[in-house]
Amino acid sequence: MPSSENLRGHTILITGAARRLGRTVALALAKRGARIVAHYHTSTAEAERLVGEIEAIGSKAWALAGNLGHAEGPERLFAQVLEISGSVDVLINSASIYSEEGIDDLTPESLTANVNVNALAPFLLSRAFAHQDRAGSIVNFLDTRILDYDSRHVSYHLSKRMLFSMTRMMAMEFAPKVRVNAIAPGLILPPAGQDESYLKELAPTNPLNTYGKPGDIVEAVLFLLQSPFITGQIIYVDGGRHMLGGDYG
Ligand SMILES: NC(=O)c1ccc[n+]([C@@H]2O[C@H](COP(=O)([O-])OP(=O)(O)OC[C@H]3O[C@@H](n4cnc5c(N)ncnc54)[C@H](OP(=O)(O)O)[C@@H]3O)[C@@H](O)[C@H]2O)c1
Repeated sequence: MPSSENLRGHTILITGAARRLGRTVALALAKRGARIVAHYHTSTAEAERLVGEIEAIGSKAWALAGNLGHAEGPERLFAQVLEISGSVDVLINSASIYSEEGIDDLTPESLTANVNVNALAPFLLSRAFAHQDRAGSIVNFLDTRILDYDSRHVSYHLSKRMLFSMTRMMAMEFAPKVRVNAIAPGLILPPAGQDESYLKELAPTNPLNTYGKPGDIVEAVLFLLQSPFITGQIIYVDGGRHMLGGDYG
């Protein structure tokens, strides 16, 4: 992998790229010359707008739809990506669902849905990526609360803990050709239906007493992509929240 300032000629698949953090990361990598395959599920207009913005800055992009909640979805998506781009150098697993439910509301369906999108799909995509049998780098998106207990999002919490374990497992299994790392964001963007007041209210729940910006996530992605001796690593971009433990709901 070249320096993060020059990703020219590299193809990067980003899941859930049409909106929010995925979109910010896609644009930042495209600005450094990467060719972007922007996966989306329902945000068709946003994905097409992103492709237009990337092409306007002189890079190449494709928007590719796919439901990662279906068992066959991830491998089918990866096969489609290979058809259009030939090979993939970097995989960023950002797509996610964030179901609100406590332990009493947990159902087999909600647990399955969260595990499928948040853990199984990243794993199946990563395995297909590793089967290319060429050098590459994978970045998974976790959550700072994997280290404690998020009692209001139990299925989500369990699925992200699963992806945490899978990140380390895959880092071992896919070495030496493929590096597998993860970013665990804390307070960066408010969840759907909330605004910045949500972030301000929760800022005191981390030692730095503030909240982060999507650009902080971009910095962590760039660092991981340009660090050839790092694998199996989790970077917490969370103002130190992961050191506190506890359950802030
Ligand atoms: N935002 C934060 O502050 C924060 C904090 C902690 C962890 N994280 C993690 O960081 C990552 C990015 O965060 P985010 O807030 O940008 O994510 P997000 O908005 O919750 O989700 C990103 C995308 O995932 C896609 N998605 C949902 N269900 C899907 C399915 N069945 N198949 C395929 N794609 C599906 C959606 O695509 P469409 O819109 O196209 O349907 C959505 O836009 C996530 O993994 C999240 O868990 C974020």
